[in-house]
Amino acid sequence: MTVTPELMNATAAKYRNGTLSIEDTSLEEIASAVGTPVYVYSSEMLKSQYLKLDKALDSLPHQLHYAVKANSTLAVLKTFAELGAGFDIVSGGELSRVLAAGGNPESVVFSGVGKSVEEIDFALKTGIECFNVESDSELMRISQRAEVLGKIAPIALRINPNVDPKTHPYISTGLKENKFGILQEAALALYQQAHADPNLHVRGVACHIGSQISDPTPLFDTLDQLLALIDQLADQGIQLTDIDLGGGFGVTYQDEASFDVNAWGIQVIERLASRGLTVSIEPGRFLTANAGVLLTRVEYLKPSGAPAQADEGHTDEGKNFAIVDAAMNDLLRPSLYQAWHGVLAVQEHSASETRSWDLVGPICESGDWLAKNRILSLAEGDLLAILSAGAYGSSLSSNYNTRNRAAEVMVRGDSFRVVRRRESLQDQLTTEIL
Ligand code: LLP
Repeated sequence: MTVTPELMNATAAKYRNGTLSIEDTSLEEIASAVGTPVYVYSSEMLKSQYLKLDKALDSLPHQLHYAVKANSTLAVLKTFAELGAGFDIVSGGELSRVLAAGGNPESVVFSGVGKSVEEIDFALKTGIECFNVESDSELMRISQRAEVLGKIAPIALRINPNVDPKTHPYISTGLKENKFGILQEAALALYQQAHADPNLHVRGVACHIGSQISDPTPLFDTLDQLLALIDQLADQGIQLTDIDLGGGFGVTYQDEASFDVNAWGIQVIERLASRGLTVSIEPGRFLTANAGVLLTRVEYLKPSGAPAQADEGHTDEGKNFAIVDAAMNDLLRPSLYQAWHGVLAVQEHSASETRSWDLVGPICESGDWLAKNRILSLAEGDLLAILSAGAYGSSLSSNYNTRNRAAEVMVRGDSFRVVRRRESLQDQLTTEIL
């Protein structure tokens, strides 16, 4: 078994009559109509994941701000906008995407350590909900730009609580050594400064300690710190109205349990029920990861190892490479974080020999791999689905090796739509001048 029962349960991809499908649409059909590589999303799962989180906070005044960076494709944003989502952005570009998808700018929070003057001006003119401020200098810049534009900037300070989220070091953000947020000890003075500033409206406090978190304890530790800060501020006459708990809710990639949103919600409600604060969260991965797959076709097989015994765990002496038409430019997570993504053959049954395969792309880098040591029965031309690719897949893709970015498809029941056409070479060359 190459994919655990936990992942089979979590992914939107299911076998129907021997063919892997998303909702009632066969992935074989999508690949023949659109070609490969192609990202395929289940609109149904995007919605159900959103509703799960929304429901967990039901009894509190709350707002979900979808973290656009996880998947910024317009059709994905529109799906969430229609459910009433707000958005967490980290650039002016992401704000433009939210607007293009029909999102409400008044429900947009702007995070990130490097907001430029142009981005701040754009956000002020658009009338976003809140700037999540990450440094003293940024606070001053926002105040100056608000004054110039004759606006009052709504702000929250993003606190760095120095809490270890116990996740991959590249995706941990809430430790002192990380570049994000304002240290708790500096926060009080900065709140006083912001409170006294006529160009600023102090709304709340924000945090985000990391991504792919499965144990909620560090989130509660952070929440307790924020509540202590809110009390200190209240003693000084600064009354916050909003608390932003960030994102980071983990999903099943292999056999790890998905974040238990209900258990987490109960504790959040316990801590916040009597506070009268509006709670917001910034989930990305939880909403999109397992709603998406990356479909790819086997171009060439380069077997130099012996056929595997049928039982998993047996690895060959030599190496068997399956060269597929997707690469690290399409899905960077394995190369960048050694991330494990499940792989399934679109046709459930195969007559081909079973071996332990490394799935690699056509890019000229040894780091260009998508999965290693997977027991699969492969033939050239076979179609494979790389699972859990809906978050930080297409949004992290690039044109490395002058490869066109993949097409993207949204499935609804037994129908599907191309929501991003495959990029063309003309698209790539058009910005350049000889
Ligand atoms: N809010 C802020 C301020 C963030 O920086 C992030 C993610 C999120 C929310 C959403 O986190 P999520 O709910 O998706 O865990 N490229 C990496 C993940 C980087 C996450 C960066 N910040 C990956 O592929 O694992």
